[in-house]
Amino acid sequence: MEARSQWGSRAGFILAAVGSAVGLGNIWRFPATAFENGGGAFFIPYLFALLTAGIPLLIMEFTMGHKYRGSAPVAYKKMSKKTEWIGWWAVLVAFVISTYYSVIIAWAMSYSVFSFNLNWGADTETFLFNDYLNLTVAPGQTGGFEPGVLIPLLIVWAVVLGILFRGVKKGIEIANRIFIPSLVIIFLIIVIRAITLPGAMEGLNAFFAPDFSSIASPGVWVAAYGQIFFSLSIAFAIMITYSSYLPKKTDLTNNAFIVGFGNSSFELLAGIGVFSVLGFMASQANVPVDEVVAGGVGLAFVVFPAIINEFPALNELFGFLFFASLVLAGLTSLMSITETYVAGLVDKFKISRAKAVLFGGGTAAVISLLFATQGGLFFLDAADYFINQFGVAFIGLVEVILVAWVLRKLKEFQSHANEISDIRLGSWWTISLGVITPIVLGYMMISLFKQNLLKEFATDTGNYEGYTDTFILFGGWFVAAAAIVVGVLLSLSKWNSSDD
Ligand code: PHE
Ligand code: NA
Repeated sequence: MEARSQWGSRAGFILAAVGSAVGLGNIWRFPATAFENGGGAFFIPYLFALLTAGIPLLIMEFTMGHKYRGSAPVAYKKMSKKTEWIGWWAVLVAFVISTYYSVIIAWAMSYSVFSFNLNWGADTETFLFNDYLNLTVAPGQTGGFEPGVLIPLLIVWAVVLGILFRGVKKGIEIANRIFIPSLVIIFLIIVIRAITLPGAMEGLNAFFAPDFSSIASPGVWVAAYGQIFFSLSIAFAIMITYSSYLPKKTDLTNNAFIVGFGNSSFELLAGIGVFSVLGFMASQANVPVDEVVAGGVGLAFVVFPAIINEFPALNELFGFLFFASLVLAGLTSLMSITETYVAGLVDKFKISRAKAVLFGGGTAAVISLLFATQGGLFFLDAADYFINQFGVAFIGLVEVILVAWVLRKLKEFQSHANEISDIRLGSWWTISLGVITPIVLGYMMISLFKQNLLKEFATDTGNYEGYTDTFILFGGWFVAAAAIVVGVLLSLSKWNSSDD
């Protein structure tokens, strides 16, 4: 049997984990989330969530991967024969995410090319939906392929699968060593330009202005936990997989702190950059900053191009740098999600990495073509909403309850991490994982189910984004449920070797 792959260095692992964590969520999710949930005051629940859930769970997942030396299904199986399916469930959620995350990177790739001539023109919204995405069909219909999306999408997959094909050390590690420093440099250039734009200070004031009354609202705490989970790529099998390639002697706890704070620093930097340019835009249009705040696809592909148009100089260059940073941040995250199922397939079916990349990555790539059609955006939106809402909070909750309460593994993990790490884990760690995180995630799940299930099926207008019941049923719930069902089926199939 082939020896298990290993990172070439500690820095290589940290860069790869940071590369997974730093993604579109930092750039377009954090700034808007913080703004809407108390601005400067949001940092209190945010830091609390980082220290009681984010970093403790990172340490736990690093320990699981390192201790059991396997992808998520292996780690869960080694904890208990009955829980392998949870590992597959996490892997399948990662699989689904990879099918549309790749598409957003493809858009960013197109837009970095459009930057050269500012092709989006004055009406950036019409350009995105009509000209670029050509969204002319009803939700649930595909229409034809959009070559403008299809071609960069194929390039994205060729790059990512090519890197994974080369392996952990020669592929993933080297790519992150190049992409992450480049991303940091590009982002610093953008942020420096942003904060020196006229109006930037008003934007920053709006961003940091603390609304302390917001902290009393549970919704703000839920938003903080949600952001931390998504942003640190926790509960998606990713960090378990990456840490399974760590050498025997390594510092788990310290690594988790570096990755956790590294990701949050990048988030803060993105918040500063985004709100500086929003302040600039508001001052150009002579409106208050809160009228121009946006997040997600709208921020990146509608608002940003419009702001780039207004830049005093070097518009094309800054447009290119911005979209290139999205591409780099996205590619390193996509590599990490894709690696979860490549590793799962290698471990379970004892096939070569090359075959796993070809089969697993190939399947994801083929499915992703759905999102490169004229109706692609609707599918993408539905899958994203459901997988994120239910995937992350749900798996995270099951994961901590299982480890802390059902299998009672915390003590064992604690001594495993303590043996090899500088920082000793104490009651902070066990209380965070055993008590605080389950309570917050449990509350999150209950309110999510209430919000989506009860309201949505009761009325026709209550659906997410006003989509029809059938579309929500198949596009959203079906996908979310399929991840569990397929996970159980995979766990029931036989391991292709005697030594497991
Ligand atoms: N952590 C990534 C971000 O902040 C998002 C992500 C989530 C990536 C899940 C992979 C898997 O953008
Ligand atoms: Na992140």
